[in-house]
Parts: sequence; structure tokens; C-alpha cells
Amino acid sequence: MPVHHLLMADDPAYAANRIQIENQAFAYEIGIAATERVGLTRIPVVVHVLFNTAAQNIGEDQVTSQIDVLNRDFRALNPDIDRVPEVWKPLVADSRIEFHLATEDPQGQPTDGITRTQTQNTQFNIRTNAAKHASSGGHDAWPDDRYLNLWVCPRIFDPRDSNEILGYAQFPGGPAATDGVVIGHRFFGTTGTASAPFNGGRTATHEVGHWLNLLHIWGDDDNGCNGSDLVADTPNSGGPNFQTPAFPRLSCSNGPDGDMFVNYMDYTDDKSMFMFTRGQVARMEATLDSARSSFNSA
Ligand code: ARG
Ligand code: ZN
Ligand code: CA
Repeated sequence: MPVHHLLMADDPAYAANRIQIENQAFAYEIGIAATERVGLTRIPVVVHVLFNTAAQNIGEDQVTSQIDVLNRDFRALNPDIDRVPEVWKPLVADSRIEFHLATEDPQGQPTDGITRTQTQNTQFNIRTNAAKHASSGGHDAWPDDRYLNLWVCPRIFDPRDSNEILGYAQFPGGPAATDGVVIGHRFFGTTGTASAPFNGGRTATHEVGHWLNLLHIWGDDDNGCNGSDLVADTPNSGGPNFQTPAFPRLSCSNGPDGDMFVNYMDYTDDKSMFMFTRGQVARMEATLDSARSSFNSA
């Protein structure tokens, strides 16, 4: 959200694009428009590994473990899906989106879909998007109309409070040079340096949700009951939930079922989040038919 607010203030094109994208999302969400997309959308991914120490130069197994989690979660094929409380099972939705490591680089040469860059940086500032530029110890983005850029790096922080952040994403409609998702290597994939309680690959699921225009389910209103994620089938909820809550978790008079803390767009631990809803998938569809339509052809 800080990165979104910076872009809204500094980049008039982003602000204008956001209005268009949200208009389309609204139409899909209330059902006056729907996608004509058939079958699966397959998104090529490039993983830019930025490492300071040798251990941070994560292995290919850790990268593929993350791609596997994305493919399960976005198709509702995750093995923990039966832990969704009964009341919400009818809302579980398959986005029909798949991810695969790129096999061709921007110059048309064969690639394994992974770039590796040794860096002097021990941490990466979200406000300068340091990870996304070779000039600041990162790696430049590949063209954002052909690839989902995923940067994996040492510690990510916001200079305002210097707290560590698991990962962050750019919503659709922003500049190509900074488009994509950044994730700390300890929160990426399920093997290697991935560490509990964020070793289930769900940080990427959450962030790619943002990349496809999903908002946090509590509506980013500082624990208020007026914020909205602009999705009708996720209950109105106060603030984020953390760790491993027990069902039901009530806020904002949303009983008896309470907050949908099992949703990927909450802040619970990896082992407590299992689903996207139909309404959230409608927003993803709107994105694939607008700002990210370049992925929607093949
Ligand atoms: N941007 C969020 C953060 O840094 C990501 C939360 C992801 N949650 C998770 N269980 N992996 O806090
Ligand atoms: Zn988030
Ligand atoms: Ca709220």
C-alpha cells in the first residue's frame, strides 16, 4: 500500500490507469460484464535471484517449489483446501491461471527462467524499488507484457519504520520498469532457505494476488469497518489477522462466520490460508481482460 500511494501521488498515468482498471473490475464483480476467456492462461515467470551471501543464492529446487505452490493455489488444487470452513466452501474458486518458468528470454534466447545477480546490498528499500534496477544493486525487469517478474532478495524493508517485509507487489497499471513482485528469500518456496511460519509459498500467492489487482480482505482502513476489498463475497472485516486464528474470528458485526482469515489476501501464517473466492477471481478476470491482457492470448 505505501508503494501504491507513492505511485498515485507521483505518476498521473498510474492514477488514470487505476480508474479504468477499477471500472472494469466493478463491472465484472457485479456481473454486468464477464470474461470470454476459455481454458487456461499460462503466465511465463522470470525469477531474478539477488544474493549478497552464497546461501541467499537459492537453488533451482526452491524456485520450482514456489512455482508449484502458485500452480496449486491459483487453481484451487492445494492439498489443504478441505480446511476451508464449510460455510465458505461454495465460494472457493479456480482462477484458471497457471505459471511456468520462462523458456525464452527477452532476446529470444533459451533460458531457465532464472537470473542470478550478486549484490552488495544486504537489504532492499521498497520505496526506491532498489531490487528492480541494476543501478541500485538489483536486476532490471524483463518486459512486463510478456513476463511476471519475481525478484527474490535479502531483507526487504520500509525506511519509515525499518521493519522487515515478507514481500510486496505492484498493482496493475503501473510503470513497466517496476512491475512485478519482490519477496525475501526466507519467505519464498517451500525448500532451501524458506523458514517457518512462512515456508508454505503463500507470500508469493498473496503478492501475485495483488499483481492481479486483489486488495487485502480487510479493506486497508486501519481496523475500521468501512474499508472494502471491492469484492462482495468476502465478509466485511476490521483489520488483518495474524498467525493461526481459530474459526470464527468476529469483527465489524460479521457474525456468525466472521473474518475470512483463511483467504490468501489476509495476513495469517502460510499454513492458515487456503483460498481465493469467486468474487476475487472475477477481479483477476477483469485484470486479464484489461491491464494484463497481453497474457490472455496464447
Ligand atoms: N506483504 C505482506 C507482508 O510483508 C505479505 C504477507 C504474506 N503472508 C503470508 N502468510 N505469507 O507482511
Ligand atoms: Zn498484501
Ligand atoms: Ca476494515
